[in-house]
Amino acid sequence: MSILERFKSDRPMIFSAPMEGVSDPVFRDWVSRFDVVDIACTEFVRISKAKPNPKLFREALHKSKGSLLSVQVMGIHLEHMQEATRMLEDHDVDIVDINMGCPTPRAARHGVGAAMLKDVEVMSRVVSTMRESTSKILSVKMRAGFDESDWVLERARRLEELGVDFIAIHPRRGCDHYRGVADWRIIEAVASALTIPVIGNGDLWYAGDALKLAQASGVKGLMFGRPLLRNPWLLTQLHALLLGSEDFTPTHDNIRGFPEQLRTILLARVREKARIGRYKEWIRWFGKAFATDVFDARALMRPGTVDGILEVWHAQCTKQALETHDFLSNSGPRSLAGSPLSEMLPSADVMPSAKQSLAIKGSGSA
Ligand SMILES: Cc1cc2nc3c(=O)[nH]c(=O)nc-3n(C[C@H](O)[C@H](O)[C@H](O)COP(=O)(O)O)c2cc1C
Repeated sequence: MSILERFKSDRPMIFSAPMEGVSDPVFRDWVSRFDVVDIACTEFVRISKAKPNPKLFREALHKSKGSLLSVQVMGIHLEHMQEATRMLEDHDVDIVDINMGCPTPRAARHGVGAAMLKDVEVMSRVVSTMRESTSKILSVKMRAGFDESDWVLERARRLEELGVDFIAIHPRRGCDHYRGVADWRIIEAVASALTIPVIGNGDLWYAGDALKLAQASGVKGLMFGRPLLRNPWLLTQLHALLLGSEDFTPTHDNIRGFPEQLRTILLARVREKARIGRYKEWIRWFGKAFATDVFDARALMRPGTVDGILEVWHAQCTKQALETHDFLSNSGPRSLAGSPLSEMLPSADVMPSAKQSLAIKGSGSA
């Protein structure tokens, strides 16, 4: 079955998100082992003013067993984007994805990432060039806008006209970075406005809630980034829920053992210099799953070695601390249980411009 055919199934396609410094081959192999991730995305590959060289995609070309490979590019230089895209033609890459989400000041300065959403002409030129240069599935991962989200539906429709095969949307604006919460109404509005598949992304912290969002919003896929780091059992839970088998909650032993397991995963394949940074990034998110009054997640970040972090972890993970864990399939303040989409979404002040735009288009609850 072709990839686009697979979007027609009732089961949403599951993506692991592109994450710079995280979604390398080791991470993509790890997520792909859970038998539920359909598409593993690479972090962005920057296409700059320098002529692309054959080594550009090195790590991005690694395809994990069990998942399709989406390689993300970020850039604006048409000739180089074309050349880089053509380099991917002869490789076992399933999807070429364009980054229209990166919110960093550096990306904004160069007019790439979320900044591409500011100017429809620029956006259109890049996408047309990419469309002409690749026979592969072409997707765009976008934010709701750069500094306002009034044009989100217009931009999404334009991307469809330009021949993009599907869109993943993280419904914060670039200027929000990660503040506030992802306004899932925007995901719903984009999914209803387009005929191509739309993938929902952003704050899908719980497997059960994510699946309910898929049902309620009509998206064809769900993309998980930080939630995979915070809850290493999320994919197990997703798998169980999709198969209709018994829900999974990790035992205290599972939880206690995870930081050791993580060390083994990283020791085997991440070069020594990079290891501590990778370990800390992951453990920082994992530590957020415990109540702050009994578990000092910040103390985990102090040691400068993996062994040091493990020592702090073992000292801190008392039975009392473990009981506060939040590795459940459902729940949280944004649980969808029993609520229509509009009722569980952010409070009125989160994204005023998005609310306004949705109200104008008549597709949101103002
Ligand atoms: C550390 C980190 C690196 C990221 N790098 C990328 C990237 O290279 N390309 C991209 O499109 N998005 C990137 N993102 C954004 C994520 O793909 C995702 O859209 C965002 O985290 C919201 O989804 P989540 O709530 O599931 O994490 C990154 C996010 C994080 C936390």
